[in-house]
Amino acid sequence: MKGLILSGGKGTRLYPLTYTRAKQLIPVANKPVLFRVIEAIRDAGITEIGIVIGDTGDQIREAVGNGRRWGIKATYIEQPKPLGLAHAVKISRDFLGDDRFVMFLGDNVIQGGITKLVQEFSDHPEWNSQIVLTQVDHPEEYGVAELDEEGKIVRLIEKPSEPPSNLALVGIYMFDHHIFEATDAIEPSQRGELEITDAIQWLVDNGYIVYPYIHTGWWIDTGRPGDMLDANSLVLEELEPKIEGYVDRDSEVDSRVTIERGAEIINSVVRGPTIIGHDTRIINSYIGPFTSIYHHVTIENSELERCIVLEHSVIENIPSRIQDSLIGRHVTISRSPIKPKALKMTLGDHSKVGIL
Ligand code: G1P
Repeated sequence: MKGLILSGGKGTRLYPLTYTRAKQLIPVANKPVLFRVIEAIRDAGITEIGIVIGDTGDQIREAVGNGRRWGIKATYIEQPKPLGLAHAVKISRDFLGDDRFVMFLGDNVIQGGITKLVQEFSDHPEWNSQIVLTQVDHPEEYGVAELDEEGKIVRLIEKPSEPPSNLALVGIYMFDHHIFEATDAIEPSQRGELEITDAIQWLVDNGYIVYPYIHTGWWIDTGRPGDMLDANSLVLEELEPKIEGYVDRDSEVDSRVTIERGAEIINSVVRGPTIIGHDTRIINSYIGPFTSIYHHVTIENSELERCIVLEHSVIENIPSRIQDSLIGRHVTISRSPIKPKALKMTLGDHSKVGIL
């Protein structure tokens, strides 16, 4: 079997972070979501992985390289325009050949990986496709499946205004080569994309066997800032804590905290689940649960809770607690001791600041 990761898209809902960074490279618990996807596929025993890239392709290539670090072989497939998930499959034909494959959206995070799913699909060579479904609160935001009483797929609809069920299509799909007949046959949707949901519906309509797999753990499509924070919290809860950095005697660090190498915790309180990245310094501060501070960050005289802070940022002397926030790279948040007492800001387009 082969793997196909879709890693294009503009990530507009995550602006301004995604102006300068591919959304798949934003870290959750200090590891880019894309790396988690690669590991999930590799752990399922698949080592030949194609990565479909778009405008941010150079960053993805630079971050993943040839894949040897994970023991995989990465092949890049360029999608010149974001014309849909089924279009991405279509242009990957040469790489995929006639092999069965798992397609994984590069911004999805799923509890428990995909080993069981891949095994089940491998055990059933007669299945042409297997799709992952899970119950969600807002099915209208996803592809939605309608099943009959026996649990067989009747219908799949992309973002329906009146969803027939609350079973959403998770961004993980298994296919055999018949999917190429489907991607050749379907027409673009109203949003101008070749929808994978329509391609799977085509398989169902043409008598191919599409089997559902109901996922019961958590799953997050990290499209929006709130989703990133949710995914971060869920992954942090499962992280095996370890202390590789330095904690001074005046600090209090609880048992579910990871402190990476070269990090320093000085006269501070850190409550888990939390991760502090390498070469980051936390001084006279409070870091609350569900927070990921990436590498080379300085936090001094400040309080943070349920945040993601990216590399090389500085947060100093902030009188109120910063909560539920996503803070980019090379950001400075500080309080000037010099009068007049005023807020001074340099904010990029689409920045959001909440002031008490
Ligand atoms: C895509 C699929 C949709 C699926 C979702 C999962 O939506 O079209 O069927 O439920 O991924 O993440 P998109 O994120 O492109 O809107």
